[in-house]
Amino acid sequence: MADNILLSAVPVIAPATRIALRQRKQAVCRRGDRRRPEALFVRESTLSHSAGEIRARAVLAGGCDSPVRSGWSVGGPMFVQTSAAGAYAFDESGRRYVDYVMAYGPLLFGHTHPALTLRLDELARGGFVWGNTHPEEVRLAERIRAYVPSMQRLRFVTSGTEAVMSAVRVARASTRRSTILKFAGNYHGHFDLALFGAGASAHTQVAADAGIPEGVMRDVAVARYNDLASVDALVQGRETDLAAIVVEPFVGNMGYVPPQPGFLEGLRERATRVGALLIFDEVITWLRFGLGGAQERLGVVPDLTAIGKIMGGGAPIAAFGGRADVMSVLAPDGPTFTGGTHGGNPFCVGMAHRVLDLIEAHPEYYARLRKIAGRLAGGIRVIFERLGLPFAVVQNESIVDFKFRAGPPSQNFDDALAADKRAYASYYRAMLDRGILLPPSQNEVMFVSTAHTAADIDETIAAIDESVSLTIP
Ligand SMILES: Cc1ncc(COP(=O)(O)O)c(C=O)c1O
Repeated sequence: MADNILLSAVPVIAPATRIALRQRKQAVCRRGDRRRPEALFVRESTLSHSAGEIRARAVLAGGCDSPVRSGWSVGGPMFVQTSAAGAYAFDESGRRYVDYVMAYGPLLFGHTHPALTLRLDELARGGFVWGNTHPEEVRLAERIRAYVPSMQRLRFVTSGTEAVMSAVRVARASTRRSTILKFAGNYHGHFDLALFGAGASAHTQVAADAGIPEGVMRDVAVARYNDLASVDALVQGRETDLAAIVVEPFVGNMGYVPPQPGFLEGLRERATRVGALLIFDEVITWLRFGLGGAQERLGVVPDLTAIGKIMGGGAPIAAFGGRADVMSVLAPDGPTFTGGTHGGNPFCVGMAHRVLDLIEAHPEYYARLRKIAGRLAGGIRVIFERLGLPFAVVQNESIVDFKFRAGPPSQNFDDALAADKRAYASYYRAMLDRGILLPPSQNEVMFVSTAHTAADIDETIAAIDESVSLTIP
């Protein structure tokens, strides 16, 4: 997690221990040391702030709507974007950057694929939101279920956070149990329990003032990814209270971390054995790993699934769904409530149809993405080899990642936290100077899109060559 700068790696945390840690932290804060680790880091930055950043900080909380965007993990600057086209982002001065943030995942086809961005008036003709069930929404659900058969019944929401949060509630209602087991370094959105041990730009584990009640902490157990023994240790004695295991099948929020053979199968087996449900958070992986998502690729069938990001082609739509008997707890069939004004709105549903239409019309896109991402990963490997740097470069489909850490690829959050944050910060800035926009946190990954060309990749590789050499002279 990019912002756990002063936090030692404590990925396997029993709820009682976590509460004790939190109380200790609160005691420190009461003694007057309320400096947050990320603030210490940001102060080291000597970078000047752009006019856009200064203006943003005067009116948006922290200058942004999502903390990672502030650049706090890399000591700034905050990248203020004014426009986008294809593979490029443009800053306030109109400078062009090859963009690998890609909105943190949704933009598999780049910023402005004409199939998604033109003729939007056709989608808006009937208005944006109706507040009633409509045939296109039903057709979208049918299309999704055809590709992800485990989602026998589903419901549309507007964000990945809502999707996972709702799946967790359904799991608890269905099992009539409370405890949720999750994994350090996975990120599931910003609802209360999801933030413990979270990856991405969340930092709740060190934030005594996170606004999350201690009662919530009692019902969460945080295990180590790829470590079934840590799961067993946490489940032992709580078997009859475990409602669900929630997991990113391939993790994209502590850098890229794939599951080791047997890990997800082990979770499936354990969930079934103790009568808990298995929830796959496929908010990143669905459509990035193909129309069947990670679950088709891995052959492990969850009870519930959350999807989002790419499915809207940039528009805010997500969904959760799963076994019909489990989903039947939802009102009006059952006693459990989820709902929302914008859920299943015709505009976003129309966008999701466009995304599926586009993928179905272009089955070659995945091969193209693999090839272009492979070119990037291969180029980085050549640089590291030449410079004698022992960093592992990982690539799967359109995700490319490496960390400033010697040794094999990360398997869990401990590994990810061991990477050199300061090296990443200086590398990030060197890349920015060279017109390449990376995620401003090393917990994220580089997302390649169908808009990235071989020339973009070669420009990026040249920039990496110079930036890495500057970072590690
Ligand atoms: C795996 C995963 N799940 C859930 C979420 C939350 O999605 P959203 O930001 O749409 O609320 C994210 C966001 O990055 C994510 O990566």
